[in-house]
Amino acid sequence: MKTDLNNPILRALRGERVESVPIWFMRQAGRHLPEYMEIRATAHDFIDFCFSPDKAAEVTLQPVRRYDMDAAILFADILLIPIGLGRQVEFVKGVGPTLDPIDAAGIDALTVSGAADRVSQVYETVAKVRAELDPSKALIGFCGGPWTVATYMLEGKGTPNKEQAKRFAYEQPEAMAALMHALVESSADYLIAQAGAGADVLKIFESWAEGLSPDLFDRLVLRPTADIITKVRAAGITVPIMGFPRGAGLNAIRYAHETGITAIAAGTDVPLGDFRATIPDGMAVQGNLDPLALRTGGRPLLRAVDQVLRDGADGPHIFNLGHGVTPDVQIDDVHAVINRIRNFDYSELRG
Ligand code: CP3
Repeated sequence: MKTDLNNPILRALRGERVESVPIWFMRQAGRHLPEYMEIRATAHDFIDFCFSPDKAAEVTLQPVRRYDMDAAILFADILLIPIGLGRQVEFVKGVGPTLDPIDAAGIDALTVSGAADRVSQVYETVAKVRAELDPSKALIGFCGGPWTVATYMLEGKGTPNKEQAKRFAYEQPEAMAALMHALVESSADYLIAQAGAGADVLKIFESWAEGLSPDLFDRLVLRPTADIITKVRAAGITVPIMGFPRGAGLNAIRYAHETGITAIAAGTDVPLGDFRATIPDGMAVQGNLDPLALRTGGRPLLRAVDQVLRDGADGPHIFNLGHGVTPDVQIDDVHAVINRIRNFDYSELRG
């Protein structure tokens, strides 16, 4: 159904301090939900599942139904774009994403033109979800940050330090720039198509922004992200765009000021109150309950929730985790977090 432009997430993204803080969780659709597991079991392969609009739309809606979250996030993956670019991607059970590591010759051979068209099932999912979703709920589309996607393409898998990918950036700067260009073009087209199909908000997941020198951060995160946003805006897309430079430390300050993002999501390690003082005035902040506190439950969880609410209270805030829901989370603990937030009394804090 058509989005209500006064829904809580869109209000917060416009810089309003919403009375009942809007809530959604990264990876809210996933293995902690029995209804997800039931549909997941009908698809042999994770990529086939992402490319099945009926199934993907259904699991996108599940957490909104169960928890009354304020937003749905499109069920897809940041590693669909490498498929559009002509690379092989597999999700191996118990191992995670597995790709054929790319080199300079492979970068030359990427099929940049039309890459986003080759994953068009995703836009069907977006349209199906928006058609069913209540106007009071926002639909979030997304892509991976160019650097984060590049790490998987270069290393062939998730690794702790992304050392090979960083080495490649130093040793083969031209090939790295060409890879960034391919990812900027295809990711921007991917976001433009999602917004065209009905996404109300777009998010760029730069999950591996930690440990980059300021120079690499500039080349691999800041400029490519700014280029994506410039291209999306040039296409006439006006929806809010959220950035998530997870683990970026002080590099996140320039990210907030120089990429053109509307709002910023904070990882678990960010003190929200201090962080707010460094970013543009009135910019909404999203985050950042520790997913491990959610998994722990009980009193420690409620204390952690209160802390995030207090830290976020000085400006527009969207409640979320600092990273994704883990599969071992208890449904009752998610309900407890949501009840705590919905009943939180700000009057003392705000005087
Ligand atoms: O609920 C949601 O958040 C929406 C859907 C979504 C998925 N992946 C589904 C998924 C989103 C937004 C992503 C983004 C994504 N994918 C990121 C950035 C966010 C982050 O968590 O930092 C990254 C780094 C990836 C790459 C990726 N996809 C990895 C490393 C893995 C394996 C890890 C795991 O949990 O198994 C995936 C697989 C994946 N993507 C799953 C889901 C629900 C699990 C697959 C399954 O159902 O078995």
